[in-house]
Amino acid sequence: MSERRQVNLGVDDIPHQWYNIIPDLPEPLPPPKDPEEGESRLGNLPKMMIGECLKQEMSAENWIDIPDGIRELYSQAGRPRPLFRALNLEKRLDTPAKLYFKSEFFSPTGSHKVNTALAQCWYAKQQGFERVTTETGAGQWGTALSYASAVTGLKCTVFWVRSVYNWKQDRLTFMELLGAKVYASPSPMTEFGKTLYDKNPENVGSLGIAISEGLEDSFKDPKATYCLGSVLNHVLIHQSVIGLETQKQFEIFDDYPDIVISCLGGGSNFGGFALPFVGDVLKKGKKIKFIAAQSQVAPNLQGEYRFDFADYAEKTPLLKMYTLGHKIDMEPIKGDGLRYHGCSPILSLLRNKGYIDTIAYPSDEKHVFETSKIFMEAEGWLPAPESAYSVCCAIEEALKCKESGEKKVIAFNVSGHGFLDIPGFRVVLGL
Ligand SMILES: Cc1ncc(COP(=O)(O)O)c(C=O)c1O
Repeated sequence: MSERRQVNLGVDDIPHQWYNIIPDLPEPLPPPKDPEEGESRLGNLPKMMIGECLKQEMSAENWIDIPDGIRELYSQAGRPRPLFRALNLEKRLDTPAKLYFKSEFFSPTGSHKVNTALAQCWYAKQQGFERVTTETGAGQWGTALSYASAVTGLKCTVFWVRSVYNWKQDRLTFMELLGAKVYASPSPMTEFGKTLYDKNPENVGSLGIAISEGLEDSFKDPKATYCLGSVLNHVLIHQSVIGLETQKQFEIFDDYPDIVISCLGGGSNFGGFALPFVGDVLKKGKKIKFIAAQSQVAPNLQGEYRFDFADYAEKTPLLKMYTLGHKIDMEPIKGDGLRYHGCSPILSLLRNKGYIDTIAYPSDEKHVFETSKIFMEAEGWLPAPESAYSVCCAIEEALKCKESGEKKVIAFNVSGHGFLDIPGFRVVLGL
């Protein structure tokens, strides 16, 4: 073999600690707050969140121990995951750039979402809960939580954005095979969902609406707790295993990225992949360009930096984040996991301080899917529709290097596979 194509690590290399960037941020992270009117949402947080996750949400510790039970679950789920060098793609693009991609698609349910689902379910079980509730957009988070609740012995209820529920029937069956109860959202199952459902049973839904339903469902049942799959600090902390592994793998490749790219909906895969590298920039003086790939239907990083609710029905506290407004209507897309009004507070602060660039691709998704097809043909992996945005952005950066002759090292995260999303590619590409 000529050049090395892959670095994987052993089970013993699964990180023992998660990375928490909060103490390293250039300025203190604004804490969540209550709106001026109505009941205290902050007071409801212990009802909304698993105790250990709430503790992590507020933690000022740089490193948080990963309990052995969760490391076991990571091992059961196939961690660590390989870092690949995309040699064929480099050749096909005829670029002097070096392209590396992290393979979060090597996952029992198809994406990075298991990294926090397993942690949250393990902590929920320890705390004595019997059921978890949640929202899902692409369906990847709902499947990850269904899987994690199955392997930790919990029940699971999922409220799934209707526009996606309607076309991903195999993923619905997957969640049901794992024992979950799944409802299209807005649903008649919750009081809030019913107000929207009664007005229009075909309401396409949104992540903001589905979060409100999941929260209401868990509030009614003392044996249930709510789990969120993105946005919050503890979710990004759990996802840091992606970037921590990638740093070790780059050491073995004897290389280091100039550009780090991932798609961004609420920020969990971008944060998990990029934040350990942002730590290198903040603490070690490394120079890296970070790019978040988004859709023009939800370019939340181009919104306003202000306090806003994380859900439609205003059940959550206000978070300081880049937001398009929690009641905004956004047209459904096939990469629907990117259709969320707000971006994680941590990433929003970094964006505000100029550490993160963003690009938003046209809502017809033709350019993104056609470009990611080049990766598929060259490397043979089918990305999830959301991950296709990372792939497209990485290819564009590699083509810029072709123009300029620069030998940049580009790292991108393929957050999931698209085996259950093929109808989406068929429609957009007219196959
Ligand atoms: C495969 C995949 N990647 C990325 C995302 C975007 O979410 P996040 O920004 O939290 O990573 C989703 C959301 O559902 C997803 O399913």
